[in-house]
Amino acid sequence: MNIIVVKDNAAGGKKAFEIIKNGIENGAKVLGLATGSTPISLYNEMIANDLDFSDITSVNLDEYVGLGEDDDQSYRYFMNEHLFNKKPFKETFVPDGKNPNAEEETARYEKIVDEHPIDIQILGIGVNGHIGFNEPGSPLDGTTSKVALTQSTIDANARFFANEDDVPRFAYSMGIGSIMKGKKIVLMAYGENKADAVKEMVEGPVTTHLPASALQNHTDVTIIVDEAAASKL
Ligand code: GLP
Repeated sequence: MNIIVVKDNAAGGKKAFEIIKNGIENGAKVLGLATGSTPISLYNEMIANDLDFSDITSVNLDEYVGLGEDDDQSYRYFMNEHLFNKKPFKETFVPDGKNPNAEEETARYEKIVDEHPIDIQILGIGVNGHIGFNEPGSPLDGTTSKVALTQSTIDANARFFANEDDVPRFAYSMGIGSIMKGKKIVLMAYGENKADAVKEMVEGPVTTHLPASALQNHTDVTIIVDEAAASKL
């Protein structure tokens, strides 16, 4: 794992953007994208720069089951607001949270992942080490599935909702196996509350208890962390 320690979130966004720019200039066509507060500085860099994304396809990691693009807490809404409305892409994919048929939706989405091989996969990390919505215990070779969120993730994400009861309990998420198919992976983590997860991801054993530890088995991973998130390394 290549670890880059930056001063803060804004500097991390610039660093991640450099990697994306370089990748696109060298032929990358498909970006795997993530939601959460972490990648916002990267998306701001993408918007501010005149790099053209109109030939680029994006494949997002996950979506809450039950939320559609008009729900302001859905990940589709988040991506439209923070990136796609301001920077046109060729095509953008996010799982359809409104499809009640989990078997159909997860098979449909995994096919999308297979048909659009991800050149650069952007990731954040949950405080419990989850990536996408692959919570502790998820199979390290899993494909897209319907997953139950843990209480720790519900608590962490409750800040975006009017009250905790509004946080969806399930999500459709690319699996760890789907994520590992990305040719290059860039994971960003900022803040003290990510320090334990970052340490376990980098220095701990590869274990389902800490889903991001699977990245140790990938040959091209860059971790961008601020000093607080790197403080336990
Ligand atoms: C959610 C998302 C993850 C994200 C995580 C951390 O659970 N499914 O993809 O990495 O939140 O979010 P934040 O960046 O806001 O800390």
